[in-house]
Amino acid sequence: MSRRPLMAGNWKMNLTPAEAAEFARGLRGALLDLPAVDVAVFPTSLAIPAVLNELANTDVVVGGQDLHAEVKGAYTGNVSGEMLKSAGCGMALIGHSERRAYEGEAGEQLANKAKAALRAGLTPIFCVGESLDERESGRTLDIVLGQLADGLGWLTESALGKVVIAYEPVWAIGTGKVASPEQAQEVHAAIRAWVGNTWSAGAARSMRILYGGSVKPANVAGIMTQPDVDGALVGGAALKVDSFEAIVRFQES
Ligand code: PGA
Repeated sequence: MSRRPLMAGNWKMNLTPAEAAEFARGLRGALLDLPAVDVAVFPTSLAIPAVLNELANTDVVVGGQDLHAEVKGAYTGNVSGEMLKSAGCGMALIGHSERRAYEGEAGEQLANKAKAALRAGLTPIFCVGESLDERESGRTLDIVLGQLADGLGWLTESALGKVVIAYEPVWAIGTGKVASPEQAQEVHAAIRAWVGNTWSAGAARSMRILYGGSVKPANVAGIMTQPDVDGALVGGAALKVDSFEAIVRFQES
């Protein structure tokens, strides 16, 4: 079966609301004739309304970069899945390596965030990946599959069907060191096999698994040729309309 590619731009802590709106206007023009792929962008929470406004009546999905597990309450500085949903978001990143590294997010907390995203009706993009140290000591698959088991292992098969997984080797994020297509494929195939063993062959076949880490117009096509790579989660190269457009249009190059 064929899985529809998803090309996602994670803007991280970049672009003011005004800059984000300008970017979204550019994107709207660039993606008028959207190829047969899904496209999503993840602005800061503050810029979400402006971006949604500019992308109204397009197929581009807007998502949150994080969410809190609770619906509301005394959690200073946080935003809930319900708030993202009511603002008009369709997706949320969960467990991005920068949140794991700088905010200490892990394990059950991320499982609760995945649960919260599903409760709110958002598609979680659940991010996993190994550090350089972990790769060099041969522990890549243990780490990645362990993060997935902790975060998603409790899901029913029908809930899992609403999840997207992103494999992002930490050593490749923002470093210019992209995993080779074969390195990406090896981990993606292992993730798909894990989904198959944990749930079913059907769940494995339909799971979308994105690759992230220094994806650029020049390397996206090679990565996307791999049979178990279903899209890309892009940071730096998603901050320019022309390079993000080239990534979205990888099939045309
Ligand atoms: P990068 O970031 O493309 O700048 O490496 C990817 C990510 O963090 O999702």
